Amino acid sequence: MTDEHRPNVPPIEDWNRLLAGRTAVVTGGGGGIGRAISELFAQHGAHVELIDIDGDAAHETAATIADSGGSARAHVGDVTDFDAVEEFAVQVLADRPKIDVLVNNVGDYRPLARFRESSPASWKSMYDINLFHMFAVTRVFLDTMIHGGGGSIVNIHSVEGMRGYPGDPVYGAMKAAAAAFTTDLAVGMGRHGIRVNGIGPDLTQTAQVDYIGTSAGFEHLWESWAPVGRLGWPEDQARVALFLASDLSAFVSGHNIPVDGGTRAGGGWFWSPSERRFVNRPKGL
Ligand SMILES: NC(=O)c1ccc[n+]([C@@H]2O[C@H](COP(=O)([O-])OP(=O)(O)OC[C@H]3O[C@@H](n4cnc5c(N)ncnc54)[C@H](O)[C@@H]3O)[C@@H](O)[C@H]2O)c1
Repeated sequence: MTDEHRPNVPPIEDWNRLLAGRTAVVTGGGGGIGRAISELFAQHGAHVELIDIDGDAAHETAATIADSGGSARAHVGDVTDFDAVEEFAVQVLADRPKIDVLVNNVGDYRPLARFRESSPASWKSMYDINLFHMFAVTRVFLDTMIHGGGGSIVNIHSVEGMRGYPGDPVYGAMKAAAAAFTTDLAVGMGRHGIRVNGIGPDLTQTAQVDYIGTSAGFEHLWESWAPVGRLGWPEDQARVALFLASDLSAFVSGHNIPVDGGTRAGGGWFWSPSERRFVNRPKGL
């Protein structure tokens, strides 16, 4: 009985091509985490439709994928502009009427405004770049996903929406809202065959968050900074996105996974290189 394959558990034909034959839409696919996701999805057989505000980055990513034998098309556009999002959907759907995977990856903490210096304009810009586009891009592709028989939506937000973030509570609130949008949408979409999950990154080296460049001289402390003892890389995020996008996670929906090297779990505990143990006070670090 336990060896029997259940007919409603999707079979995995090739574990090296987890997205074979599928079409994936990735926002911000030209750089950082979005680029790593686009490349890994293509490596696993997906055709990737990526959009980026940076045209050079978008085209370079698509060309790199093509050079490696994958399939991708670059679009240039600003996902905070609803007209541009609608135009993106028209272009994608004219060529690919079935969308299987949507990754809403765009987001930014910049320009950082401390709350006491913040303004209606800065609140709106945090909303537009971290939340509005998630509604907009999901809205324009959702019916197609439903009519195509379902799929997987992966929302990239932040660990800062899953814990207290002192830097900018408005940014943290937008990321927390993106995580809530994920769980709320998941419940309503399950019967349409659509799973919705989120990723809350932390400590991942990209152009937006240059941990290496801003930590010169303090490299020896990296092992203290995350329970796993190292900095994260875009491919660390992409691997979890692949899990959530593919049938590996066929029974997972409505969850937000911190992909953070354990920082959220370890909140307040730091590895002491001198004492070789975790400490929760300055003495010992
Ligand atoms: N890197 C981290 O450690 C970290 C931590 C927490 C959250 N995140 C989140 O992960 C996601 C990806 O971040 P990243 O570090 O890879 O950022 P990044 O800035 O390195 O890459 C973002 C990509 O999105 C594109 N982009 C930006 N604005 C756009 C727009 N309006 N329309 C279309 N494309 C746009 C950029 O050109 C770039 O290619 C974001 O949502 C970010 O908030 C990252």
